[in-house]
Amino acid sequence: MQHSALPPVTLDELDQLANRASTVISRLRDRLYAPGHDKTLDLRFNVRKAAEMVGRSEKLIRDAEADGRLPEPEKDPATGRRTGYSLTEINRMRSVFGTLPHRAETDRAMVMAVQNFKGGVGKSTTVCHLAQYLALKGYRVCVVDCDSQASTTSIFGLNPDVDVDEEEDTLYPFFRHGGPADLSYALRATYWPNIALIPANLGLYDAEYEFAARMARDQAFVLDRLREGIDSIRDRFDVILMDPPPALGMLSLSVLRAADALVIPAPPNNIDFGSTAHFLKMLGATLNELARAGGARDYAFVKILATKMNDGKSAHVAIKRMMDAVFPMDMLQAVLKDSAEIDNATANLSTVYELTGSATRTETHKRCRAYLDAVGREIEILIRKTWPSHHAQLRKEGVL
Ligand SMILES: Nc1ncnc2c1ncn2[C@@H]1O[C@H](COP(=O)(O)OP(=O)(O)OP(=O)(O)O)[C@@H](O)[C@H]1O
Ligand SMILES: [Mg+2]
Repeated sequence: MQHSALPPVTLDELDQLANRASTVISRLRDRLYAPGHDKTLDLRFNVRKAAEMVGRSEKLIRDAEADGRLPEPEKDPATGRRTGYSLTEINRMRSVFGTLPHRAETDRAMVMAVQNFKGGVGKSTTVCHLAQYLALKGYRVCVVDCDSQASTTSIFGLNPDVDVDEEEDTLYPFFRHGGPADLSYALRATYWPNIALIPANLGLYDAEYEFAARMARDQAFVLDRLREGIDSIRDRFDVILMDPPPALGMLSLSVLRAADALVIPAPPNNIDFGSTAHFLKMLGATLNELARAGGARDYAFVKILATKMNDGKSAHVAIKRMMDAVFPMDMLQAVLKDSAEIDNATANLSTVYELTGSATRTETHKRCRAYLDAVGREIEILIRKTWPSHHAQLRKEGVL
């Protein structure tokens, strides 16, 4: 027998490797989640920006501050200068002027999944940035982290191993036999004034086993459980965003079943696009299967979002062109281009929308914001189209 030129890696060595990796992660987390350093939202908006966000002139804002409908603007005690408005204050202005974009009670909250069984295509990135884009606009948003890897939970400032109890705080207890009647227990406020989060951690993975064991006996319970849970909280929100795990398991199926609409992130490179094509094929088959298990599933929209696109790579450009040709009606026009800004923000467990100060004055930042805003705007319009109470306004805006 010929011997390998490399010595074999023993189980002990693998264990050591795993331990060292855990050390790196816990050091990183210690730095990012130092005690007393709870994540806060430091965004401040000047009156010009406030006027734009609220949809009323600076003068109307000043008048409302003068006649007491709005509080006096905050000032820095040392310099006497205005410190700008927080998002909570902007939302108070929207409320005073009647410009909050909430759906009418007769409209259904939109439950949207950002789904692709392929890993690393930008699902969590899209969910976090979209949630924050919508929150900045004044919508009431809920983010449901359905992935035991919990990247979205981390970005929203929680340490999944420390701040999230696997028996009490995630979707997991809801999925267990005799679990709670509704999902309210799992909703948490975040440091974003109008984003609630249902967090995840590794314990959620056990739901896959329990579901699989239960599937044979009680298929309907398993498949519809998440949908029932979402229905139990949907009245409190305008938009509920689900971030599923990157695999075709019971959790992913539950997400497909619970969603009213899908956005499918797909990087335009050969391998990821091959997986996306495979995903679409499986999606068709899976949805037919789900329909047979009770009730057809129609979506308000299913859109493909090109993510991590690099214009400098001819293969990306060619595949994107092919995607546009093959799915002319199904692609979002906006593209989430590959951006160092996103990667850097994620590495700091943060988003591009949370950056403040000089970091926001670079060209890279402005470009990245423009891609993110374009994606957000397009999806926002798709969502509003499902709300009859928004139709008159959409006609005025020329999009209906
Ligand atoms: N447009 C982009 N530009 C640069 N980096 C990106 C972009 N989108 C995502 N990334 C990076 O790619 C990595 C994977 O992204 P993300 O976690 O959003 O994917 P995912 O589909 O949720 O992955 P998983 O399947 O593991 O849940 C992250 O490090 C993220 O910062
Ligand atoms: Mg993810």
